[in-house]
Amino acid sequence: MPKELQIPNREAELVLKELEQTLDLPGDVVEFGCYEGDTSILLADALRNNPDKWLYLYDSFEGLPEKTAADEAPQGWRFQAGELRVSEDTVAHKFKKLSLPDPVIKKAWFSDLADDDLPTAISFALLDGDFYESIKVSLEKVVPRLSLGAIVVIHDYRNPALPGSAKAVNEFMDAHADEYEFRLAATLAILVKK
Ligand SMILES: C[S@@+](CC[C@H](N)C(=O)[O-])C[C@H]1O[C@@H](n2cnc3c(N)ncnc32)[C@H](O)[C@@H]1O
Repeated sequence: MPKELQIPNREAELVLKELEQTLDLPGDVVEFGCYEGDTSILLADALRNNPDKWLYLYDSFEGLPEKTAADEAPQGWRFQAGELRVSEDTVAHKFKKLSLPDPVIKKAWFSDLADDDLPTAISFALLDGDFYESIKVSLEKVVPRLSLGAIVVIHDYRNPALPGSAKAVNEFMDAHADEYEFRLAATLAILVKK
């Protein structure tokens, strides 16, 4: 049976379409919540002709953190703390096997990331931390570094099993509506820095 991808092919295509639009912008590419790196390798492959752009991958590699009340949903019963635990070597090995340039892989809880762990400028960000606090913190880390025209894609915005993602994005947009274009595609929310 084929392996279940965390971001299905149709959504991965949408992610890559957004990434393409940012290739001429200054800044690097980040993924918050890379898990086994299945989408990371697609991002890396799309960056092959842009050797100046680095790919930064962040994950606890301890699996999901604890849920908060904002994440509770009957459909989300299978998303539990410690779920999706994987070794960072799995991701590094995947890149080696495909002869893709090494990404920067940082094992940390998002809230513990220091300024030095992030690129100074970001042209594209994929936020896929599933839970409210994870998406909220990812936005806080990414936003001060976004180049003009940079795109932030947030997974699970329209996933009823993971309501925290939409809550974090909606709160962010309530506070920053003038600074971003906002649109939806499949379960993704897409923010474009004005
Ligand atoms: C759905 S998976 C990511 C899937 C991946 N983007 C892909 O397309 O294959 C979510 C990942 O986010 C990580 N994660 C969630 N919240 C986190 C946090 N606060 N700090 C660090 N990692 C976190 C989990 O460890 C998990 O690997």
